[in-house]
Amino acid sequence: MNKQWWHDAVVYQIYPRSFCDANGDGIGDLAGIIGKLDYLQKLGIDLIWLSPVYKSPMDDNGYDIADYQDIAAEFGTLAEIERLIAEAAKRDIRILMDLVVNHTSDEHPWFLAAKSSPNSPYRDYYIWRKPQADGSPPDDQRSFFGGSAWEFDEASGEYFFHLFSKRQPDLNWENPAVQQEVHQMMNWWLDKGIGGFRMDVIDLIGKQVDDKILTNGPRLHPLLQEMHRASFGPRNVLTVGETWSATPQIARMYSDPAREELSMVFQFEHVTQTWDPEHGKWKPRPFDLVEFKRIIAKWQTELADSGWNSLFWNNHDLPRAVSKYGDPGRFRVESAKMLATALHCLKGTPYIYQGEEIGMTNVRFDSIDDYQDIESLNFYRERTDAGVPHVDMMEGIYANGRDNARTPMQWDDSFNAGFSDGTPWLKLNPNYRQVNAEAALADPDSIFFHYQRLISLRKESEVMVYGDYQQLLEEHPQVFAYQRRLGEQRLLVLNNFSAQPVELDLPTELTGIEGQGLIGNYSLRHRLDERVSLAPYESFVMAFSLTSSPP
Ligand code: NOJ
Repeated sequence: MNKQWWHDAVVYQIYPRSFCDANGDGIGDLAGIIGKLDYLQKLGIDLIWLSPVYKSPMDDNGYDIADYQDIAAEFGTLAEIERLIAEAAKRDIRILMDLVVNHTSDEHPWFLAAKSSPNSPYRDYYIWRKPQADGSPPDDQRSFFGGSAWEFDEASGEYFFHLFSKRQPDLNWENPAVQQEVHQMMNWWLDKGIGGFRMDVIDLIGKQVDDKILTNGPRLHPLLQEMHRASFGPRNVLTVGETWSATPQIARMYSDPAREELSMVFQFEHVTQTWDPEHGKWKPRPFDLVEFKRIIAKWQTELADSGWNSLFWNNHDLPRAVSKYGDPGRFRVESAKMLATALHCLKGTPYIYQGEEIGMTNVRFDSIDDYQDIESLNFYRERTDAGVPHVDMMEGIYANGRDNARTPMQWDDSFNAGFSDGTPWLKLNPNYRQVNAEAALADPDSIFFHYQRLISLRKESEVMVYGDYQQLLEEHPQVFAYQRRLGEQRLLVLNNFSAQPVELDLPTELTGIEGQGLIGNYSLRHRLDERVSLAPYESFVMAFSLTSSPP
């Protein structure tokens, strides 16, 4: 495998609205991020994935872009993002911009022009169809945010297509002019020295609406190859696509370097296994560790030789890792560290979502009125209107609603957790008095320093970056165990995913092994006996070499 600079990199995702508010308007901003770069440098991360900061009416908090080459006033100015790129570079941190080109805002000048007249040259930048004979939408395609994916335009008597909100019209990627505009815009950002792009729902750009093909359309990979050639290909940057529809075979198509598409993609199989097959995220089902291990083993082995994995527990659309997969109560610290170890020792590029490094948790607001997320609010309305009881919908929102990840970052135990001097745009999680960055930095044994250690281990340990993956104890209902192997080098990673202590009988080839304990959330282990006891949520990593271990 050809080595790439991002193979041992760790990415930190910032949701700017919720990170740090420097001007007291209740909304996080670029100046706030610049003020926290030293904190991120201390953590040790290499890249920041910045969720959108472009000019936007904020119907979907910036995933609805009105100008790709300007910054939303509440976040700052172009001069400030240039300062962010430069200040980050001084600390060896690169910025990944969020590329949202499946759709724009309905306030983008392209859409305003498209809407103004069917004869506008911009009309064909979007997807328009005539109504059916009775006036109804061209088909019954639903939007991911609820309701029909078709919105009627009175003036022209046609419908336009939107897979997200009706204020996020989908771009028509079959139009070469759209492709060229996007490539030029990407080059404009690349010229500013950014480290690459995270590509929003990129698996949708090859859609063919008349054939009901949304994901993985026949033109998807050619479009990405063209994008690679016309923009980032020669620049040696990191590109990561959001691809809910990827299978390992498809992920190899995106990320096999020989195909010249993307560095890697986010796949979501481990996320959707906790959703009801019929009702989706609003009806969660319990996490199944054995199934999870099967999924991880599949991705680790199928992308072993060509392609590359991205590794993540959470992001701005998903619940907090420690609430979903760990114990946000009694074992919050232990389980947050265990989850970090379990993920960071896999093969791939790890992504940390802001606040994960201090073990921030999900939130339960009493009233639906305290929620801001367009997806949660739309579905709440749609489903309660259809008779789903309020309490059922609230349970779904508590478990999987996107505002769990979006409550303001908890910096300290002062007013508004140090996030803002004004009124935060979304309420805080009341646990900020205990769970905050200041407390984490004051405690050498905190979750923060556990992440710091994992990130630095990745820089030191070749087997952690390039070793192959071997699953152990496949059927064990509580323990996620694996080995990484590179030549004679081994990493053994054991994680108890439960609040119950576990006694393990290890495979005979592992008993009596001596090595170096690299990290642990209770203690370091340098030797393995025949029986290994794991405390609640205990995890540890041991490095050893086949040549130096006893026969
Ligand atoms: C995926 C983004 O992560 C999400 O936040 C957004 O709402 C949709 N794409 C639409 O852009």
